[in-house]
Amino acid sequence: LTTLAAAAALTFSAGAALASCEDGEIEIKFSHVTNVDKHPKGLAAALLEKRVNEEMDGKACMTVFPNSQLYDDDKVMEALLLGDVQMAAPSLSKFEQFTKQFRLFDLPFVFANIDAVDGFQNSEDGQKMLDSMQKRGIQGLAFWHNGMKQMSANKPLLLPEDAKGLKFRIQQSDVLQAQFEALGANPQKMAFSEVYGALQTGVVDGQENTWSNIYGQKFFEVQDGVTETNHGVIDYLVVTSTEFWEGLPDDVREQLDTIVKEVTRQRNTESFEVNEGAKAAIVEAGGDVRELTAEQRAAWVNVMKPVWKKFEKDVPAELIEAAQKYNP
Ligand code: LMR
Repeated sequence: LTTLAAAAALTFSAGAALASCEDGEIEIKFSHVTNVDKHPKGLAAALLEKRVNEEMDGKACMTVFPNSQLYDDDKVMEALLLGDVQMAAPSLSKFEQFTKQFRLFDLPFVFANIDAVDGFQNSEDGQKMLDSMQKRGIQGLAFWHNGMKQMSANKPLLLPEDAKGLKFRIQQSDVLQAQFEALGANPQKMAFSEVYGALQTGVVDGQENTWSNIYGQKFFEVQDGVTETNHGVIDYLVVTSTEFWEGLPDDVREQLDTIVKEVTRQRNTESFEVNEGAKAAIVEAGGDVRELTAEQRAAWVNVMKPVWKKFEKDVPAELIEAAQKYNP
């Protein structure tokens, strides 16, 4: 009886703590996997939550669950389609089972910087991608930036040869798998929440991610150093289900859409600075950051860029060209 009562009390208090929704409000649960502080996605989701709860009071209420509290990215899409959560923002690398279009963003050395990514996403080709998974029940609402990826391992990485034979954690993406295979390394797909432990125990030797993720997950503490490769991008698609989206009253959908777009514009312009802040915090905490010379960087490009050819069916050369128009 005591155990039962305790369990009931626990369930009740957990429920009470989360349920900020009043009667008649549409509940929006937003699940994501990163930290909040010094993180473009964490900050954007927190701002979205604040604005929805302030401006849509009485109509809708939002609760954000960061840090993989609710779901890993490989489970969240299923939860979204089942209606267990209403919004999420997985990285573009994690949509392979729904569309191959986002493979563009995983190809190494396509985008020179996050401004180029931004330019392409806001182009007609980019905006069309938001609707590319409607048939699968998924509606894209906005692209959110994280930033450019850096590489780290348990030894210094200065030339592509340094990565040979090492095990690297990757996101769920065949392009990223091919990228590390091109380096002669062993890629291993793994959920974000498991990476720190895997690096610490030597299950994998290295990883690639943005400054904000390397800082937020403390990867730098269990790596030899981080090499500033800027070889690719991690960006997000804010998603909902078509069922939820189409089921909203028109005025609610329009107001929510406007808030999402305004938050997107505001936070995306600040994502670069947020990552620079995370990089500075890594250095301050004693992490080693290594820069590449132009020759060293060219060597990485040489080895990794041939991966484009492998995926030319999904990402035709014309699309890469269209994307690269935004490079400086
Ligand atoms: C990763 O799995 O490394 C990233 O997609 C995590 C994130 O959401 O930035």
